[in-house]
Amino acid sequence: MIDHRLGFAVELARKAGDLVRQGYGQTIQANHKGTLDLVTEYDVRSERLVTEAIRQAFPEDAILAEESGQSGTGDLRWLIDPLDGTTNFAHGLPIFCVSIAYARGNEPLLGVIFDPTRDELFQTSAGGGAWLNGRRLHVSKETSLSESLLVTGFPYDIRTNADNNLDHFAAFAMRSRAVRRLGSAALDLAYVAAGRFEGHWELRLSPWDFAAGILLVREAGGTVTRTDGGPDVFAEPTSLLATNGSVHQEMLSVLNR
Ligand code: IPD
Ligand code: CA
Ligand code: CA
Repeated sequence: MIDHRLGFAVELARKAGDLVRQGYGQTIQANHKGTLDLVTEYDVRSERLVTEAIRQAFPEDAILAEESGQSGTGDLRWLIDPLDGTTNFAHGLPIFCVSIAYARGNEPLLGVIFDPTRDELFQTSAGGGAWLNGRRLHVSKETSLSESLLVTGFPYDIRTNADNNLDHFAAFAMRSRAVRRLGSAALDLAYVAAGRFEGHWELRLSPWDFAAGILLVREAGGTVTRTDGGPDVFAEPTSLLATNGSVHQEMLSVLNR
């Protein structure tokens, strides 16, 4: 069941990524979902392509997709971010991807993240390892926070919610080698799996942002918890700490100092 769906999800992520890449670099008309949160024609078209294909192939599966919400019922569902990194995409910055996961409840069973501008296809399944373009991935072996390269993001309500991560950002900037803000949580997590970053933390992400990425990190040998160390990263309000495992405790101490 999972192998069949994994192959299907890989094909689908490539198709959706190719569609988004065709729009990349064109003048993009963006509409506002909130003060800072944008949606473009390509978010919507990519999501339609993905959800229609799933409905046709697996009509019994439920779907949770960013732009159209929940459809269907049952424990087995697809979690879709049709374009992660919309702000980058709308500004012509080539850091964005398509993220597709399939989960039982809140337990991801497979995940695919496709970056069409670098042609990087990350894929994983529970117990099957994490892979990038056919190469097995492992998290980095770095053990010291002060030698670590980290990545984070800021929630769209940064201007109105005081719990906006700027405090943690400052704390990690002083304690790590450097902190990046790439603008795509799915790629942030894929890059932890690939050993490019030692750790990623973020507040108030949505399940479609991280469902595929957290399985990639775990299957690459890393550790995923809430920022307080608790196990349920899907519980609202969500918080996420995904690391190579070796710097997890040190990052938890900074987040809970
Ligand atoms: C956003 C990106 C960003 C993260 C935001 C997400 P979107 O997703 O993943 O890195 O900081 O919280 O909402 O809106 O580009 O799909
Ligand atoms: Ca997203
Ligand atoms: Ca999105």
